[in-house]
Amino acid sequence: MIQLVIGSQWGDEGKGKIVDIMAEKADLVVRFHGGNNAGHTVVINGKKFPFHLIPSGILQKKPTVVIADGTVIDPDVLLEEMDIFEKMGINLKKKLVISPRCHLIMPYHKELDQAYENARGKNKLGTTKRGIGPVYADKVSYNGIRIYELLDWPLFVEKFKFQAEIKNKILVAFGVIPIKVETYLPVFKKLAERVRPMVRDTFAIFQKAIKQKKYILLEGAHGVMLDNSFGLYPYVTASNVIEGGVNIGSGVPSKKIDEVWGIVKAYTSRVGGGPLPTELFEKTADDIRERGYEYGTTTGRPRRVGWLDLPAVKFACLLSSINRIAITKIDILSGLSQIKVCVDYKLDGKKIEFSQCGYLELKKLEPVYKNFDGWKEDISKIKSFKKLPVNCQKYIKFVEKYLEVKIKIVSVSPERKASIFV
Ligand code: IMP
Repeated sequence: MIQLVIGSQWGDEGKGKIVDIMAEKADLVVRFHGGNNAGHTVVINGKKFPFHLIPSGILQKKPTVVIADGTVIDPDVLLEEMDIFEKMGINLKKKLVISPRCHLIMPYHKELDQAYENARGKNKLGTTKRGIGPVYADKVSYNGIRIYELLDWPLFVEKFKFQAEIKNKILVAFGVIPIKVETYLPVFKKLAERVRPMVRDTFAIFQKAIKQKKYILLEGAHGVMLDNSFGLYPYVTASNVIEGGVNIGSGVPSKKIDEVWGIVKAYTSRVGGGPLPTELFEKTADDIRERGYEYGTTTGRPRRVGWLDLPAVKFACLLSSINRIAITKIDILSGLSQIKVCVDYKLDGKKIEFSQCGYLELKKLEPVYKNFDGWKEDISKIKSFKKLPVNCQKYIKFVEKYLEVKIKIVSVSPERKASIFV
């Protein structure tokens, strides 16, 4: 079986927890795009495990975890995560596979990301400054350096020096201190030695697994609204987040995917700039942010929050043929007397679809809301759908009907065990 898990909103929907639950039985858990701009948190027995690069399934006994072709790797972050997991007693040589096609985030990528953001001034996009845009730009313009080159040290050094020379000219134009290649060589050397035993032909691994009908779990990062083509460009990330990104980023053919799970947070959140039609401010926003601990896993930035935006989520479902939904963080809405859900968009008095909107339209349009009565009870220990407060059930059923996709999991607290299987 092949399962894909993707975020249906602006990221941070709670994918990490859902992947972690599913990963228990999986043979392979795979990251296929993005880098350490993504962050997943898994909570086990009250202890938080934040992940940035290594797939969430690493904490489960069974699966081998794969950092596949489309993922971009920051050497410091990978080394740090490898240290953490090795200290926990996990044998990474057995457990972790890395594709030689993964591109490396070089020090000048991070400098460029920061320099572009500074230059944009008040129009800055709010990137995570992890070098994501510049590393993918180098990839598509044939200037990237991959794990493949890293394993051939003289070739790697030659490529690094050549690229650094060019990038330093751009950095100087931005008024930034140029980078010194020699400073960074030791960390890349260390990375090369550490990853060498884990680098394998992931195409062959996936083909064999497909033939043997193994259980492959593909772990999407970010959310559909941040997709480079279909998100609200330029307020997007640099990779393809949608279902089609699987084929591009791992080589697993999209046609082989059996289940596409969309993760829908019961409200909206985002980090970074760009329009957010259902955005909330002041007390309700602060309440939701604090209760939901809406601070970036990667950057610690406070996330913007808003009511659930169903036209956007419906677009994500259709775009990525989502056929199962896990709704998360519904417990955060407990205690609100009224809950709103956006069901339509209106621009200049006329209905407008999400797909018709660029960021200019989204900034101006008016969300049309449906109101729901809230519930007061703490629902974090509830184990069956029928035991949820009636108003909470109504909310979930409405979302399911609107999206025309079955809600199969209702997550009522960050804990691994706190999930209702519907
Ligand atoms: P970048 O991916 O660092 O270039 O950032 C581009 C935009 O995507 C910014 O608005 C980021 O805040 C956002 N972003 C990237 N990755 C994530 C994520 O995993 N969760 C939420 N937002 C993200």
